[in-house]
Amino acid sequence: MKTLLVTGSCGLIGSEVVAYFDEQGWQVVGVDNNMRRDFFGELGDTSWNKHRLLATCRAYRHVDLDIRDRAGVLALLEAVKPDLIVHTAAQPSHDLAASRPFDDFDVNAVGTMNLLEATRRHAPEAVFVHLSTNKVYGDRPNTIPLVELPTRWEYADPAYANGIPETMSIDQSQHSLFGASKVAADVMVQEYGRYFGMKTCCLRGGCLTGPNHSGVQLHGFLSYLVRCNLEQREYTIFGYLGKQVRDNIHSYDVARCIDFFYANPQPGAVFNLGGGRANSISILEAFDAVSQLTGIPMRYRYVDQPRKGDHICYISDLSHMRRQLPGWDITRSLSNIFDELVASWRERLKQ
Ligand SMILES: NC(=O)c1ccc[n+]([C@@H]2O[C@H](COP(=O)([O-])OP(=O)(O)OC[C@H]3O[C@@H](n4cnc5c(N)ncnc54)[C@H](O)[C@@H]3O)[C@@H](O)[C@H]2O)c1
Repeated sequence: MKTLLVTGSCGLIGSEVVAYFDEQGWQVVGVDNNMRRDFFGELGDTSWNKHRLLATCRAYRHVDLDIRDRAGVLALLEAVKPDLIVHTAAQPSHDLAASRPFDDFDVNAVGTMNLLEATRRHAPEAVFVHLSTNKVYGDRPNTIPLVELPTRWEYADPAYANGIPETMSIDQSQHSLFGASKVAADVMVQEYGRYFGMKTCCLRGGCLTGPNHSGVQLHGFLSYLVRCNLEQREYTIFGYLGKQVRDNIHSYDVARCIDFFYANPQPGAVFNLGGGRANSISILEAFDAVSQLTGIPMRYRYVDQPRKGDHICYISDLSHMRRQLPGWDITRSLSNIFDELVASWRERLKQ
């Protein structure tokens, strides 16, 4: 039986990956210390998801370990010797990082280093998949000329018709401290592939979403937006007229992509992974979509100050991924995503 180790196993992506591989008969060990609650307070608590996994999975084992604990990570990898490591544990917020710079770097950069070295020592043949982010490109995507449409910004340069490719520079732009700690991790994951020949992969996520996100204002845009709508909370738009564009991918399609990479691994691979053009939406368009679905108008306020280093229009170019991992593609549309988010928040808000 194959063994999977997932870090951040109670978060959005981690929990989807646990459930996906558990269903395929893998033995799954998950690491999560609920640090999302420490980062974001009560709304960020992921313990509900741990209980869900323990109740619904065939054979899920939970380990309450902090990935900053180097000795603990080394001992765990030595004991488990997994075939696949999916590293999703992180301080995931662009904005929070500035107020918690040491925690951000220690979790995102040093935690990743702990896992890479522990893997090299104890499971060097394993496939190592790291959840990176499009914030590694910093604000360079904002240098692409744009046109303003009635509800969204759009690339004016036809070279970006399919979105942003992996060849965009990650250097000499403003990243936020979060983006910079993720660059450190991303480059180290690539290096363990290139230098040591390990089968490592960076997935540079656009907006990753799905029903199991504990969405908060500082992280988890669509999940939080749907929650605000249902609870009639005020949503704050930060700059760019609410026309900023994000491409959204369902966590299930992220898990599928990891499965495809496991079947066809390479050292030091890098992929942009978002919903692509078909799953792109602006904040104003998302307000419209959710209100139509729930019948509840969106309450919001506009702050005429964008977040530092925030993208105006970001769409992932999925061509490289589709070429390298044939058979993989987006299976969940935006409308599927909205349906699931609304249904799951209705259920969770009842409890
Ligand atoms: N959600 C997105 O839109 C998005 C976009 C791009 C990239 N990503 C990346 O994908 C990954 C997963 O994102 P997510 O949305 O699932 O995040 P999430 O916050 O839902 O999940 C991360 C989990 O990691 C756990 N964790 C945090 N610090 C830990 C530590 N020190 N030790 C052990 N566990 C710890 C948290 O408790 C949480 O349950 C992250 O690396 C994030 O940067 C996410």
